[in-house]
Amino acid sequence: GRCLAVFTSGGDAQGMNSALRAVVRMAIFSGVRVFAVREGYKGLVEGGKHIEEFRWASVSNILHKGGTVVGTARCKEFREREGRLKAAENLVQRGINNLVVIGGDGSLTGANLFKKEWEGLLAELEEAGRLTRSQVEKCKYLNIVGLVGSIDNDMCGTDMTIGTDSALHRIIEAVDCLTSTAASHQRSFVLEVMGRHCGYLALMAGIAGCADAVFIPERPPNPGWEDSMCYQIAQCRDAGRRHSLVIVSEGAVDSENRPITSEQIRDILQAKLGHDTRITVLGHVQRGGKPSAYDRIISARMGAAAVITLLNAEGEIPPKMIGVQGNVIMQLPLMDCVTKTRAIDTAMKTCEFKQALELRGRSFKR
Ligand code: F6P
Repeated sequence: GRCLAVFTSGGDAQGMNSALRAVVRMAIFSGVRVFAVREGYKGLVEGGKHIEEFRWASVSNILHKGGTVVGTARCKEFREREGRLKAAENLVQRGINNLVVIGGDGSLTGANLFKKEWEGLLAELEEAGRLTRSQVEKCKYLNIVGLVGSIDNDMCGTDMTIGTDSALHRIIEAVDCLTSTAASHQRSFVLEVMGRHCGYLALMAGIAGCADAVFIPERPPNPGWEDSMCYQIAQCRDAGRRHSLVIVSEGAVDSENRPITSEQIRDILQAKLGHDTRITVLGHVQRGGKPSAYDRIISARMGAAAVITLLNAEGEIPPKMIGVQGNVIMQLPLMDCVTKTRAIDTAMKTCEFKQALELRGRSFKR
């Protein structure tokens, strides 16, 4: 029978446990043996007790937990060929040639490279006497399916990635907390959120949390933005708003590609408007806590789809990524998604946001 291994890799994200659970249970339900690899690629390289066959009950009581119960790591060894040789050896020894990788774009790129090298790795292992002919014969090719676990929502081909919705919930809880204290003191707050090179979290938090301004990497503001920002904020204050909130994505840049920092914005609000301004850097709080209902559901659907994709494969298939488009679960070519990711266009989202702000602005003009 077929064997598959599943692991989480890169930064953790809420919903990874739900995905893991779905993969394990869908596999067992379909009569496939399933192994969980602990600590991501590190566990794949180290083998031994890191690679454990999972049963139905191995994933009991994890659905509602944040993070990933099988651990995750950013692994140096897997970047070296010797590391990948060990990983291949560990898999083939157990008869595993199907992989479900739950991770961000770096983790999925690594999986793709591993697949490309697979034949060569096995030949080398056989020649060195580390694997037998029959072991190699049974695992001639490697089939891979990726699920995108990342709070950043920075992958092309999918509307949402696992963890994004929960992270947004965390951010909005923080915004609500900041808003009451800010309004009490008539203060301004700069809230810095994660997202790496993607402004999705900042932008959506801006809409849901009613920010005065949002800075994201994809849409650097025009020169002179400092004055426009202050003008808009001052107008809102004149109209009776008791606080101001600026959300900065950690990767925000200006039109000359210089980082826009929280300190810089605080200093501008203080100098130009005389606002008592504080900074909150939300940090890893965003990656913690319970997964939202949406993340639990989407991860379960994606996990099940990953196993079905591997089961339906007759022989070798190109690496796939499971995504969601308009609430429909899709099977996509993994590498297309990874390479296009760098060029994500948030223009539409930005445009919607601008409209939302303009509408709000209009209600102030009495
Ligand atoms: O990719 C998820 C993410 O949380 C980013 O938003 C952030 O830039 C990065 O990971 C932080 O990485 P680390 O957990 O290694 O500090």
